[in-house]
Amino acid sequence: MRETSVSAGDLIFPIFVSETATAPEAIASMPGQFRLPLSHVGKIAKQVETLDIGGLLIFGVPAHKDDTGSGAYDSNGIVQNAVREAKSACPDLVIATDVCLCAYMDHGHCGVLKGSEIDNDRTLDILAQTAISHARAGADVVGPSSVMDFQVRAVRQGLDQSGFDQTAIMAYSAKFASAFYGPFRDASDSSPSFGDRASYQHDFGNLRHARREILADEAEGADLLMVKPGIAYLDVVHEARSISNLPIVAYNVSGEYSMLKAASERGWLDERKVVLETLIAFKRAGADLIITYHALEAAKWLKDN
Ligand code: PBG
Repeated sequence: MRETSVSAGDLIFPIFVSETATAPEAIASMPGQFRLPLSHVGKIAKQVETLDIGGLLIFGVPAHKDDTGSGAYDSNGIVQNAVREAKSACPDLVIATDVCLCAYMDHGHCGVLKGSEIDNDRTLDILAQTAISHARAGADVVGPSSVMDFQVRAVRQGLDQSGFDQTAIMAYSAKFASAFYGPFRDASDSSPSFGDRASYQHDFGNLRHARREILADEAEGADLLMVKPGIAYLDVVHEARSISNLPIVAYNVSGEYSMLKAASERGWLDERKVVLETLIAFKRAGADLIITYHALEAAKWLKDN
């Protein structure tokens, strides 16, 4: 009588690819996750494909940072090279990228600065150039995540004008300013050097605001809408499902992964059971797809079920 199911194809596996790593570097705050060298990307892509996981989401950890985030749109940048590696190993695997600037900026913010403030409109063109460079490398899906106003419109226009009208946009539509991103920022060395992201990411107390952002992204041309974080935000996932007919993606973020890992390592939780229960909860709330660092393990568990 189970009303809801989850399968490996509903999952997307996020990976960190580092320009400086020569071997996989363990991420201390995310047990089981690594900063991978380029040479390992093909192997991971094959694993993801063999397990029938829906796709791969690539984050870059660049060697250099500056005040325009130039590494983000460099045709020879870490994400662009990682996409090419993944695509040459697995031409049919869906490859998605994160389109943001924080890991490429010397100040760690997601946009260019004007004094100590973020310059929303000057950031839009850089995001579009970044998305175009990912599409040119072979990305199927780009995920604008800097939470600038009109980022989806800018990326859609940029892609279309460059001939990438078939590249899909997975919009980080309801992305809250959350403490659950802590381990991710260790992994990608992307913490802001001053202040926080509250002037662009959303206030976690606001559901109506999230609704506005979801509808705006849909109108700007998003193909998939994302809610992030996940576990503490299932009401927002449900809301997104009920106000839009686009596919809804829930991001089961780093801090959520790490808390289940930590408790499981201590023997306080049964990891397999809590992870599968959590994935079902995302689906029950209305998510079509789930981005999760547990994807490889969960896909194996689902196969054994
Ligand atoms: C880039 C970005 C972040 C995450 C995804 N894209 C960090 C942030 O916004 O600070 C977080 C993902 C996670 O915690 O797993 N802006």
